[in-house]
This record gives sequence, C-alpha cells and structure tokens, in this order.
Amino acid sequence: MAVITVTPLEGKTFGATVTGVDLRSLDDAAFDRIRAAFLEYGLLVFPGQDLDEKASADFGRRFGELEFGGQALANVRKLKDGTYSEVLDVDTQLMRTNLGNEGWHTDSTYKPIASKCAMLSAVIVPDEGGETEFADLRAAYAELDEATRDRIADLSAYHSTNFSQANDLGDFPDSNVEGAYGTVYHGEAYLRPLVKVHPETGIPNLFVGRHAFGIPGLPRAESRELVRSLVEFVVSDEHRVYRQEWQPGDTVIWDNRFVLHRACEYDYRKPRYLIGTRVAGDASSELAYLPDDPRAEAGRQALAQELEILRIEARDRRYGATTATR
Ligand code: OGA
Ligand code: MN
Repeated sequence: MAVITVTPLEGKTFGATVTGVDLRSLDDAAFDRIRAAFLEYGLLVFPGQDLDEKASADFGRRFGELEFGGQALANVRKLKDGTYSEVLDVDTQLMRTNLGNEGWHTDSTYKPIASKCAMLSAVIVPDEGGETEFADLRAAYAELDEATRDRIADLSAYHSTNFSQANDLGDFPDSNVEGAYGTVYHGEAYLRPLVKVHPETGIPNLFVGRHAFGIPGLPRAESRELVRSLVEFVVSDEHRVYRQEWQPGDTVIWDNRFVLHRACEYDYRKPRYLIGTRVAGDASSELAYLPDDPRAEAGRQALAQELEILRIEARDRRYGATTATR
C-alpha cells in the first residue's frame, strides 16, 4: 500500500496536500490519519482523486451526517446521458446563489446547525478564473491585537443568507425558491459568537463572514464596520490565504468551523462543474437554536429590519434589489 504523505502548504498558516491515498477505499487507520490532519490543518488538498457523486458523499459521511452529498455546484446541469446542459443565465436564482459564494463565508451559518466541513471535487473548470480561495480564521484570531480581542470577546452576530445575498448582490430571493441549494432563504437569522472555540481542538478562532450582520448592542454602522474589518483582517495577510487552482480530479475538504472560503469570478459563459458534499455540524457545538425557539424571534425581526434598509441601499448592486424570476 502507498504511504500517505501530508505536506503542509508552503508559506501558509494552514492547509496541507495529501498524496498516496485513494479516498474511495480508505481503511480505518488511513481515515484516522486524514481526520487528524484535517483537524490540524483545516484544509486538505487531494490531487487527482477523480471522485464521482457517490464517492464524494461516501467520503463525506465518514465525518458525520450530511447536509447534502454529491451535489452539483455548477453553472451547467448534468443530463441523464452524462453530457452537460448549456450554461445557466446569470439572472437565474441558481447563478445568483453561485455568485453569492464569491463573498468570504463559512457554510450554513444561516441554518440552525452550522456545517462541520465541506468538500469540493473539480470536474469541469474554466481555463481562467473560477478558483476557490480559503482563509485561516484560527491564525487570524491568534494574530489579532489585544484591544480588538477584548472588544469582540462577548459579541455575537446574526447570520442569514437572505442578508448576504441582499447585501453583496442586491438579490432578494423569495423563500423556498427552487434551485437555491435547498431552502436556504427562509427568513430566519441565527445568532453566533464572533469568537468560536473549536469543539474538537479547543483552539479559539474568529467566526465572521458574509452572512454575519446586526451585532446586538452595536449601532448598525458600527456593526457593519466591525464585521467588514474583521474579515478584511483575516484575508489581509497572504500567509492566511490559499488559492486552489483547480485541475479536474482534485478534491478539497475544509473545516467550516475555522476556515473561510469563497469562489473566484470567471467568465460565466464557460462551464464550471464541481461536486459538493457538505457535512452538518454536531448539534452540541454548532446548533444556535431552532426556528421554534423563543430566541428565534429576535433574529427574524433583526433580519426583516435589515432587509428593509437594504431594499433601498442595495439598489446599486449587481441585481439591483430584484428577485429572480427563474
Ligand atoms: C461551496 C462554495 C465555492 C466554489 O461549495 O460551499 O462556496 O468555488 N463553493 O464554488
Ligand atoms: Mn460555501
């Protein structure tokens, strides 16, 4: 059997490349090695795995319960005969959602239970652009100045993708729209601390991204500026940022509890097809509260108020405060 080799990404505070392994046939010892590397590095790059939908889901399931497995993250649809459709129009809700992924985020913080980790496998990638970038929230917290650490120690932010779509793109999806990776535009907002203690390593990290807004206790302008400046700080140092330049066959997995990511822009007329699998967080550490919890009402109200402001403020953004019709 080949020897598993874990090589830290050069010049980065996080991430490693893993070779000498076939993710489709991992025995328990090999999986333990990968799990340990995942917790240590937060981001693992596996070149040349050529996983299909089922293999992607199967590998994901070893980390925990799936939110979804082997799903297309793409601007084309895979047809029954194995070929691909024409690229989708950028005004479709699916493409609006894909473009939303170009803002720094961790996955599913807008759900009651945020994600533990996620995986992408490249099938079709444009020759230019369309990379995925990652950033290290753990190193960022460690390198944050004392005054800011003190300031944010007890602060939390609401998380909603109705917010991030409106704020980043001027996109106002109807709730339960088709083609939006499940019902993610549900009108709830979940409160999460700005500083997270990782449930498995005990190491603190920043926990902010595009879905975060409305820090209770701060005026709106101050809250916006704080979220913006924290994300900006995380990605301001190249040692904390890694860009995955996809080759078909590559698989990447990252820890959504301390690693930010975003898609990079590309020529949207060219096909891009990645297979995605997302693992749910453990409720004991990633559950904010459920929608029927009395605490949910404050989030719902904060979001409704915020969207009312953005209806006007976001008119100049890409989608001009509109709702997709398909
Ligand atoms: C995701 C995501 C980025 C990309 O799959 O959650 O944000 O590059 N994808 O497509
Ligand atoms: Mn994502």
